[in-house]
Amino acid sequence: MRIILLGPPGAGKGTQAEFIKKEFGIPHISSGDILRANVKEGTDLGKEAKGYMEAGELVPDSLIFGMIEERFGMADCQKGFLLDGFPRNESQAVTLDEMLTKMGTKIDLVVLLEVEPELLIARAVGRRVCQNCGAGYHIENMPSKVEGICDKCENELFHRPDDTEETVKNRIEVYQKNTKPLIDFYKNQKKIRAVDSSKPLPEVAAMISKILNDLH
Ligand code: AP5
Repeated sequence: MRIILLGPPGAGKGTQAEFIKKEFGIPHISSGDILRANVKEGTDLGKEAKGYMEAGELVPDSLIFGMIEERFGMADCQKGFLLDGFPRNESQAVTLDEMLTKMGTKIDLVVLLEVEPELLIARAVGRRVCQNCGAGYHIENMPSKVEGICDKCENELFHRPDDTEETVKNRIEVYQKNTKPLIDFYKNQKKIRAVDSSKPLPEVAAMISKILNDLH
């Protein structure tokens, strides 16, 4: 199963990806997570990407393609994957199709997470992420048991530097301009299914699960 989760910042892509990964046994490939790991490790890619990410701008395609191709080459991707954050513009979507054609495969479905815009800023600004295991929380919707501490591994939670209100607003604009046109791109391929991600987490997870189970 090869799936894309599409949606604006704070739509719930990363959160839902964790449910899908467990239920369907496919790896979750988050371009944002790979980039953040590179920034943390201080790799050349991380050094180049950092400024774009902190400003809420897209990292240049030339840096993204090699990173994704390398991830597709790993053994766990052979049976499928769930893409989160990639593709993010038409050039990335076209290149993704080309990469998959070369691999003799294709995208099966794009799940579009739709959320009322006024909810997005509150979701992203209130998000907290574990520095160690990557578990995601929200200070109101999904708080950790002890404030600032991860329930799973007891390490410190952090606030992403691009989750300030100003940067989130820019990320939403970048989404509207560059990523939203992909809805039509995948409509033309008859591959898109929309889910109302304004609903509570378990309801959204159940809707996605039904769509993916029907795909089999
Ligand atoms: P990336 O990490 O991909 O960020 P994003 O797309 O902006 O998405 P987010 O991680 O903000 O949101 P999400 O939809 O995953 O929401 P989440 O599940 O966490 O990218 C970061 C940066 O990297 C980009 O700005 C860019 O610079 C660069 N980049 C990445 N990929 C790139 C690419 N392909 N090309 C170029 N540049 C790239 O949920 C948010 C919060 O809401 C959480 O706290 C969660 O608990 C809560 N929540 C979620 N769902 C619900 C619900 N149903 N009810 C209540 N609360 C909910």
